[in-house]
Amino acid sequence: MSQQRKSWSRRRKLVVGLIGIVVIIALAVGLGVGLTRQGSDDDENTSSPTPTPIPPTTNNTDQAGIWHPSPGGTWNYEINGALSDSSKQQVFDVWDIDLFDNDEDVISSLQGQGAKVICYFSAGSYEEWRSDASDFSQSDLGNELDGWPGERWLNVSSQAVRDIMLTRIDLAAQKSCNGVEPDNVDGYNNDNGLDLTQQDAASYIRFLSDAAHQRNLSIGLKNAAEIVSTVVNIVDYCVNEECVKYNECSTFAPFIQQGKAVFHVEYPKGSDTNNALAVSSSARAEVCDASGTAQFSTILKNMELDSWIETC
Ligand SMILES: *[C@@H]1O[C@H](CO)[C@@H](O)[C@H](O)[C@H]1NC(C)=O
Ligand SMILES: *[C@@H]1O[C@H](CO)[C@@H](O)[C@H](O)[C@H]1NC(C)=O
Ligand SMILES: *[C@@H]1O[C@H](CO)[C@@H](O)[C@H](O)[C@H]1NC(C)=O
Ligand SMILES: *[C@@H]1O[C@H](CO)[C@@H](O)[C@H](O)[C@H]1NC(C)=O
Repeated sequence: MSQQRKSWSRRRKLVVGLIGIVVIIALAVGLGVGLTRQGSDDDENTSSPTPTPIPPTTNNTDQAGIWHPSPGGTWNYEINGALSDSSKQQVFDVWDIDLFDNDEDVISSLQGQGAKVICYFSAGSYEEWRSDASDFSQSDLGNELDGWPGERWLNVSSQAVRDIMLTRIDLAAQKSCNGVEPDNVDGYNNDNGLDLTQQDAASYIRFLSDAAHQRNLSIGLKNAAEIVSTVVNIVDYCVNEECVKYNECSTFAPFIQQGKAVFHVEYPKGSDTNNALAVSSSARAEVCDASGTAQFSTILKNMELDSWIETC
């Protein structure tokens, strides 16, 4: 414990030192730019100014210790069971991994490499294979998720469902995750059998967000494009699948405008798990150069979200 505290304070000093250096460099650059500008007043350029990129600081934490990732960091998304050994060796700013299938030592070893860890769980669906599956009552279960056998939509307004999710968020805190990714909050877009609405989803996000923040965990919005403007202020980042494919990336721009990371994944190979097969350069460019994705953290994965990855 005391060992940990020591290394924390050392890191903080390092950060403060680095911030100092960055400030000095920024001032110097600013001065340089100012001087250059003064010297070239004549060639006034009326084209719109390029927005200043927000430097990636994926390890930002606030006074309460809650992590607030800025846009632009690297990430990997592997929720197909426990993190593979080969993945454990790779370095990313952010890892998004399964809450149930990974032990605390996996999480702490990634954090030891300087990464932040988002713990994934399904908040809007019942998954029959989870260790807490028997805690759900039948009356809270809706239709099966199309294409996901063993999963059924949940009544997200039910207190019994919410209590189970509190226990899951407690587990994330116990395992020292930095944040959580509650998946499947967009049941309203699907044939859910429970008459779920966007209002239900927004109220659920508010509930989950309060619960996460009370435990000093950050929280992201998963997909759910329709409720971005309602919840962008109360979540800390978003995790998006396939906004290029569905031509809705600009819908998530409010996150970037608020200095919040957009962790974005596309599946250019679909379910092709032939991991030796690289994505063609045109398919890759289609994702990596897609409009509306400026400052997103974009990766290319298999739909299975196994260890295969290409970065932009
Ligand atoms: C103005 O700036 C843009 C972008 O930097 C550049 O493409 C363009 O040529 C410039 N125009 C003039 C008149 O300098
Ligand atoms: C945050 O990131 C910076 C830059 O990558 C790094 O130098 C610093 O040690 C990190 N701080 C913490 C607390 O991890
Ligand atoms: C959250 O962090 C604050 C500040 O470090 C601390 O006082 C508080 O006890 C933490 N809360 C929990 C639930 O860990
Ligand atoms: C979902 O739960 C709420 C709160 O308990 C309840 O009012 C509503 O009737 C439930 N919906 C269905 C379809 O059972």
